[in-house]
Amino acid sequence: MNLLASIAHQLDALDNAQLRRKRRVVEAVRGTRLTVEGREMLAFCGNDYLGLAQHPVLAEAAQRGAAQWGVGATASPLVCGHTASHESLELELARFLGLPRALYFYAGFPANVGLLPALVGRGDAVFSDALNHACLIDGARLSRAQIHVFPHADLAALDAQLAACTSPRKLIVTDAVFSMDGDIAPLPEMLRLAERHDALLLIDDAHGFGVLGPGGRGSAAHFDLRSPRLIVMGTLSKAAGAAGAFVAGDARIVEWVMQRARSYIFATAAPAMVTEALRASLRLIEAEEWRRERLRAHAKRLHDALSGDAAIGRLLDSPTPIQPLIIGGNGEALDRMAALWRQGLWVPAIRPPTVPEGTARLRISLSAAHDDADVAQLIEALRAGV
Ligand SMILES: Cc1ncc(COP(=O)(O)O)c(C=O)c1O
Repeated sequence: MNLLASIAHQLDALDNAQLRRKRRVVEAVRGTRLTVEGREMLAFCGNDYLGLAQHPVLAEAAQRGAAQWGVGATASPLVCGHTASHESLELELARFLGLPRALYFYAGFPANVGLLPALVGRGDAVFSDALNHACLIDGARLSRAQIHVFPHADLAALDAQLAACTSPRKLIVTDAVFSMDGDIAPLPEMLRLAERHDALLLIDDAHGFGVLGPGGRGSAAHFDLRSPRLIVMGTLSKAAGAAGAFVAGDARIVEWVMQRARSYIFATAAPAMVTEALRASLRLIEAEEWRRERLRAHAKRLHDALSGDAAIGRLLDSPTPIQPLIIGGNGEALDRMAALWRQGLWVPAIRPPTVPEGTARLRISLSAAHDDADVAQLIEALRAGV
């Protein structure tokens, strides 16, 4: 079988397992309303938790940035792509997070893929939660360190793995808020384990930054964690409403990441229009507490309405805007998504390999841009769709 025939065969297999992914073309965006094939859908599928992605203040900042700096950064930050706007953003991020230094990456996936191999290598050890995001897994693999996967949030298993390890460098890595489950990792206990076993702790706060902690400072601030062993990575593509990511922590570690992360060194910097939008976003994240309050109210309303209603599915006990409704089979999850779609709601079905086999789910993603009537409509549609 030649290569093309074997790829066609693999695509057929995806179809047969109902695992072939399709993109829908979004024709217009108006807050939480997305137009698809001429029809306006109420969306619970994006990660715009604070409702900032369409904010006019961010759009104006991006326009000013484009007028001043153009739309392309032209080179790696280490050549000539690091403008005064990038520099200001990094200083403002570090101040906001209360950490010594922050480094801005053009996206979150490459940040982790570059970060892990910069921190550990052959002969070292990575301890990785079983439900970690794909980019942490890929970063760990690329590092060539030995990988120890511990069952999700299982501190006793992590403790035992660390105790048995004789590698010179140990790195614990975890999503801070799990992207498909919405739960928060037991970070204080993990940091204590890192201290006891002389390890570093890297947290990926893609879904906690902007949402958790005082002023939206994220999961580490939520637990009031401070330690030179703690490395915080966060994405700016979700609650911050734009694009990119940061790595923040001890200044020596961040400097080393800048010297060694190949995805930082050998990639063009993000355009300064994006960093300008992010600087505006940071100010709104800090100032507008009502956005987080509204998110919490939406989550409570959903739980009050759906918990215990087994016919609808099993709503996980998530304290964050990620509210997964476990359905089970792939086909059933797709059918439920289709039933909601017919009612004008866009709630994505998430299937393996993104989530474990048999746990296909509707990933409901709440936003401060939703109003109470939107959440009520979702609850009604879920009830009608079974
Ligand atoms: C936990 C986690 N880390 C990293 C990323 C990658 O971030 P980005 O989309 O900015 O590349 C994502 C999501 O997309 C994520 O959910």
